[in-house]
Amino acid sequence: MTTLLSLRNLVVGLRHGHQTSPIVRGVSLDVKPGERVGVVGESGSGKTLTMLSVLRLLASPPLDILEGEILLDGEDLTSASEHRLRQVRGSTIAMVYQDPMTSLNPLLHVGYQIVEALRAHDVDTPQARDKARDALRQVGLADPERVERSYPHELSGGMIQRVMIAMALAASPRLLIADEPTTALDVTIQQQILDLVLDLQDTTSMAVLWVTHDLGVVARLVDRVVVMYAGRIVEDAPTSELFRRPSHPYTAALLASLPGTQHTHRSLLHQIGGSPPDPTRLDRGCPFRPRCSFAVEQCAHDEPPLLVRGASRAACWREPDQWQT
Ligand SMILES: Nc1ncnc2c1ncn2[C@@H]1O[C@H](COP(=O)(O)OP(=O)(O)O)[C@@H](O)[C@H]1O
Ligand code: SF4
Ligand SMILES: [Mg+2]
Repeated sequence: MTTLLSLRNLVVGLRHGHQTSPIVRGVSLDVKPGERVGVVGESGSGKTLTMLSVLRLLASPPLDILEGEILLDGEDLTSASEHRLRQVRGSTIAMVYQDPMTSLNPLLHVGYQIVEALRAHDVDTPQARDKARDALRQVGLADPERVERSYPHELSGGMIQRVMIAMALAASPRLLIADEPTTALDVTIQQQILDLVLDLQDTTSMAVLWVTHDLGVVARLVDRVVVMYAGRIVEDAPTSELFRRPSHPYTAALLASLPGTQHTHRSLLHQIGGSPPDPTRLDRGCPFRPRCSFAVEQCAHDEPPLLVRGASRAACWREPDQWQT
């Protein structure tokens, strides 16, 4: 099958003073049409910067794409014009953010904002109104007319997040990027939003990149999981495979720290001690080494590339058999 989105060796740099340090350090990732991919990793691992790069929305300076390609149907977005990028944003690729309040204008009615967003993509006004209303219904908002007439502050967090998803869906994007869209919501509302996205995935053929620090959340949602650590992908695996048999010690540690799991790795890795490294100040060798119980001599010298491990790929020098029990 053809690839919808392909990141090839994406490097994002952070400028500080006269220096530039890579903080997304060579991310390669393919998303096929209709595919659902989870992007998981602790806070600070580079998930958001990777996603913002796709839409060319990095705050530049201090952030910049230093290397790599972002191919959308084979077209490289790293060299696309601002005009072209505006066409792509919202119509081909839509993004829902962690803090939706910041993406809505507090002074304008919600309905007006959805219609304006659609009109930016050449949908005429009457058609935009219809689409907006359909989208609000589609995300389970019982009284779309009332929601349209409301200001953002008159709606609850869960309703706002539904509005943002409606706005993203209204233009029928081919790829939805959801960057921790449920993190700020309470557990019950989170569950409702997740169920909603599951339903929508079944009824549309859009691809989804679902970004979260919570591995538990993606289990039901995605076909494939990409695990990020210190600005790199350290494991890329089919979801069932990743849960059954993680190929990277970091993934195993994330699984072991999930509440309520009776995971086999629990005895080995109770909790990941320490915290993730600052990607601008990495030592030589594997970035996970200070927190890894299985490190060997080589880990101190060379950073492992992604190596094939059955149906998965993992950036670890050691075969899973060597450290799994
Ligand atoms: N605007 C910025 N200026 C400086 N550093 C940033 C900026 N945005 C992100 N970073 C740093 O880049 C790293 C990756 O951040 P981010 O992509 O937001 O991680 P994640 O989404 O996985 O939590 C972190 O170390 C973060 O502190
Ligand atoms: S390469 Fe070495 S330090 Fe890094 S995760 Fe694998 S075993 Fe641990
Ligand atoms: Mg983030």
